[in-house]
Amino acid sequence: MDAPAETAPQGIHITPGTNTGRPRKLYIESYGCQMNFSDSEIVASILQKEGFDTTTDESQADVIFLNTCSIREKAEQTVRNRLTQIHNLKKKNPGLIVGVLGCMAERLKTALLEEEQIVDLVAGPDAYRDLPRLLGEADQGTRAVNTFLSREETYADIAPVRLHSNGVTAFISIMRGCDNMCTFCVVPFTRGRERSRDPHSIVAEATDLFQKGYREVTLLGQNVDSYAWSPEENNKAFMQKKGIYPQVNFAGLLEMVAKISPELRVRFSTSHPKDITDEVLFTMARYPNICKYIHLPVQSGSSRILELMNRGYTREWYLKKIERIREILGEDCGLSSDMIAGFCTETEEDHQATLSLMDEVMFDFSYMFYYSERPGTPAAKKLKDDVPLEIKKHRLNQIIQKQNEHSRRRNEADVGKIFEVLIEGESRRSADYLQGRNSANKVVVFPRKNFTKGQYVQVRITDCTSATLFGESV
Ligand code: SAH
Ligand code: SF4
Ligand code: F3S
Repeated sequence: MDAPAETAPQGIHITPGTNTGRPRKLYIESYGCQMNFSDSEIVASILQKEGFDTTTDESQADVIFLNTCSIREKAEQTVRNRLTQIHNLKKKNPGLIVGVLGCMAERLKTALLEEEQIVDLVAGPDAYRDLPRLLGEADQGTRAVNTFLSREETYADIAPVRLHSNGVTAFISIMRGCDNMCTFCVVPFTRGRERSRDPHSIVAEATDLFQKGYREVTLLGQNVDSYAWSPEENNKAFMQKKGIYPQVNFAGLLEMVAKISPELRVRFSTSHPKDITDEVLFTMARYPNICKYIHLPVQSGSSRILELMNRGYTREWYLKKIERIREILGEDCGLSSDMIAGFCTETEEDHQATLSLMDEVMFDFSYMFYYSERPGTPAAKKLKDDVPLEIKKHRLNQIIQKQNEHSRRRNEADVGKIFEVLIEGESRRSADYLQGRNSANKVVVFPRKNFTKGQYVQVRITDCTSATLFGESV
């Protein structure tokens, strides 16, 4: 059987070039989730001050950074393959400095220097302020490492350089780390304890983006519903221990950002089924500019597996949440999920429960994976990765097929409806067409006419595929 393509939310982002005459050139390639892509913008910002322009041409670079991901084994293998290619560049240019940043740096720490001989610098996600010093050491020929994880660092005061941007939509990191300990997941180990960023700095960043012409911000965190900030202390565990009630919770933050302007759309990711509250749903309902779309990863439809995953909810709890979302926000609210096929001890019956949950919910979209054991996680320590690879892949294929079918049906149900679309730019197929998204996060393609990006336009949907809606402006 062919290996199915994992529908990972991943890609490789190469940070675009800047050319301001700074003396050194930095090339950054980012893997993994949006958090990593956002972090690369912080890294570029820190190094601009150190005399670096960014370049998209690795052969021109004085410094190459790979901002890495550890979520699945495949993600790490991709980076190792890249390091082998970069080795050849270094043979031609011995002065080249190669740094590994992000989650793989954090997971492997100094071991990375032993395993990958060409790496000069290793910096974990909370160590980017230290990059100038680390680069100084690497310049002197010393291999430099900082993988210290912080309880406070949120980079709140560093204005990211928005190099990837279409000028219309942007991501704002509102918290870092994760305290959840889902048994399969490496993130709590690579990103450390959860901490929330000062809401005023978030509002200031969003306001600045709006003034620069941006029309949509996505608030980012591994579990946005546990956002909690208080002026005395921004560490949630500490707040709970001290009995300090958070002055701003996620619903409060959403409202603060939504109030910047009715012309600024607000999105967020990721929500956790155990933590999303009615207060958040009612806040979404109150503000038309908070997009009606929730990414609510379920992972599995079997309560037994969810328990082994330590997700903190059952199948029934999850289905009740979906019901509540549709009650408060209506049937048109976009819903998407993440799925893991073949987690430890998963039986055919558990797998069928996942498929039947999908039938009940009818997600618009999902990211789907087969389980990849990560060293050091609770599952790796306590559970047996006992589902054979062939079965994992087979189950994943069934999940992907079902999702494709559901995506198509959910899109077909939109034909004939009129949506407000924020234009993000030209359609990838043709310059005669523009594309944007509706509130539910669906991509809508329509004839260009005299519209330009950054505008809102009403579009009547006339046709669709499982991935895209097509329509005419009205
Ligand atoms: N904080 C988010 C998820 C972050 S990781 C949340 O809680 O939903 C993104 C997705 O990767 C997860 O939702 C999960 O579906 C998948 N994932 C995480 N660890 C994995 C592993 N070891 N094997 C396969 N998929 C995994
Ligand atoms: Fe990982 Fe769970 Fe935290 Fe998401 S909530 S990052 S899956 S530990
Ligand atoms: Fe990967 Fe780290 Fe994000 S493991 S998914 S880059 S938080």
